Amino acid sequence: MKKILNLISDEMMQAFEQAGYERALGKVTPSNRPDLCEYQCNGAMAGAKQYKKAPIMIANDVAAKLSDSAVFEKVEAVAPGFLNLTLKKEFVGNYVKDMRVDPKYGLKENETPATIIIDYGGPNIAKPLHIGHLRSAIIGESVKRILRYIGHNVIGDVHLGDWGLQMGLVMNELKIRKPELVYFDETYTGMYPEEPPFTLSELEELYPFASKRSKEDDAYKADAMNCTFKLQSGVKGYRALWNHIIAVSVTDLKKNYERLNVVFDLWNGESAVHDMIPGMVDAMKKEGYAYLSEGALVVDVKEDTDTKEIPPCMILKSDGAALYNTTDLATIMMRMEQNKPDKIIYMTDKRQELYFEQVFRCARKTKLVKPETELTFIGFGTMNGKDGKPFKTRDGGVMRLESLIQEIHDEMLKKITENRNIEDEEARQTAETVALAALKYGDLSNQASKDYIFDIDRFTSSEGDTGPYILYTIVRIKSILAKYIENGGNLQTIYSDIKSPVNNSEKQLMMELAKFNSSVEVAAEEYAPHKLCAYIYDLANAFNHFYHETKILAEEDMSRKAGWIALLTLTRDVLETSIDLLGFSAPERM
Ligand code: ARG
Repeated sequence: MKKILNLISDEMMQAFEQAGYERALGKVTPSNRPDLCEYQCNGAMAGAKQYKKAPIMIANDVAAKLSDSAVFEKVEAVAPGFLNLTLKKEFVGNYVKDMRVDPKYGLKENETPATIIIDYGGPNIAKPLHIGHLRSAIIGESVKRILRYIGHNVIGDVHLGDWGLQMGLVMNELKIRKPELVYFDETYTGMYPEEPPFTLSELEELYPFASKRSKEDDAYKADAMNCTFKLQSGVKGYRALWNHIIAVSVTDLKKNYERLNVVFDLWNGESAVHDMIPGMVDAMKKEGYAYLSEGALVVDVKEDTDTKEIPPCMILKSDGAALYNTTDLATIMMRMEQNKPDKIIYMTDKRQELYFEQVFRCARKTKLVKPETELTFIGFGTMNGKDGKPFKTRDGGVMRLESLIQEIHDEMLKKITENRNIEDEEARQTAETVALAALKYGDLSNQASKDYIFDIDRFTSSEGDTGPYILYTIVRIKSILAKYIENGGNLQTIYSDIKSPVNNSEKQLMMELAKFNSSVEVAAEEYAPHKLCAYIYDLANAFNHFYHETKILAEEDMSRKAGWIALLTLTRDVLETSIDLLGFSAPERM
């Protein structure tokens, strides 16, 4: 379907044309004085000079052409030359009626679908997930769903950190604790055990311990680096042990992500490109892009137009070891070979911005990507505590993701059971669903690049711009619909369709519904889930306003009542589709 704003503009442009003015002047925008009108057009002001006429005269000419318009109920030319517009009820009613039978509620799918890889999540094996990983997962998942919904072919890749020093640290510490393990016997030629030689909690304890010690003990760190080297150069026992670490961690990661309703298409790790690195490096040398600088191999990436210093991109350290960016460059190469993406989007903390700028420039310069391949970085801000500092546990430690989710879940459960007696299991499940909405909406409703304050009380509140408020609204609609069915109504064959609105709150609700397509489009274009949040908040408010002013189920005119029920099903569907694009869902009751 065409966007409602375009239909409105078309009508206005036609009137400009009929009145003898340039068509383009008829562009309409939402009103910035909603107390006076719903939409406005400032074209008469813009055209005054060109036509050497007072703007009000132009406005009057145009308004006269719209006296029996099918779109506008009222077109007011007001001094000095504004056109204040009010829509016809039938026009609005028909638009939402068409939306209800459109598979995507009026959204037109992209005509030229692109293949897009989203690199998000980015957890590191053996290291606990932290809040940065949480934001990447939440925002990335939503951007992925939005882009997919508008018709792109989107591939989400978790890009596991599974190949760096942290692996060596874990292995080295394990070697100290259990030197008898067969993995460390380099003369061993038999099969390796199928059972991992550690549990998940043992594994989780190893990394923080080893990381701390490596910072205080150089010899210990050297041993860990040696283990990393053995792993990377393919020593069999180390590879076998590594496989165990990956398997145990990935199982746990998948559980965590599942709880967050985050689903990856690819579980590739940094390790996946290990074997591609030598070839890539050789090519960079041969083509003359890479050169030695103080022992390290680098590619210059600065450009004449730079206003700040962009340091060279380091490809190999002086000891020949690959770095974080080496893997990222090789991963770009692999993705271009395997998936041929038109676009790759990276989602990390905004502190990695310069880093990605270097990687992107290097990838372009060394022709790992095509000139038209888009490489996009989306950096997000920090999640802070109420003190404005990065969020910590009560005792001041780094907050682990699981504890954070648990905390918000407990708070939600408390609120849900406070003044109700829902069955225990149902309450627990509802709390799980609502807690996820609280957490995700709390994050997504802020512009990603900004820091925000994680405020459990506010996020879990059922009032205001929060996830639970949106869910309450959906549940409210569902319960009205359930009662309608209980009283013998049927939602499959509602015997009357959406009609023209009878009052202003109904019209406002319809006008909000009509913005669904444009809101999703903007959120997709700008990779901005917060714009979709703002949309559903307005929509929920409009619905609740309508609900408070209208006795829906008590309405005696059956056809009018059925029309409202149809409107409710559309509102529910648009809200539920939107929250699905944000990555959460609503319960049946709360
Ligand atoms: N593992 C990294 C970290 O924890 C994030 C990875 C981001 N993606 C990438 N392609 N570099 O910081």
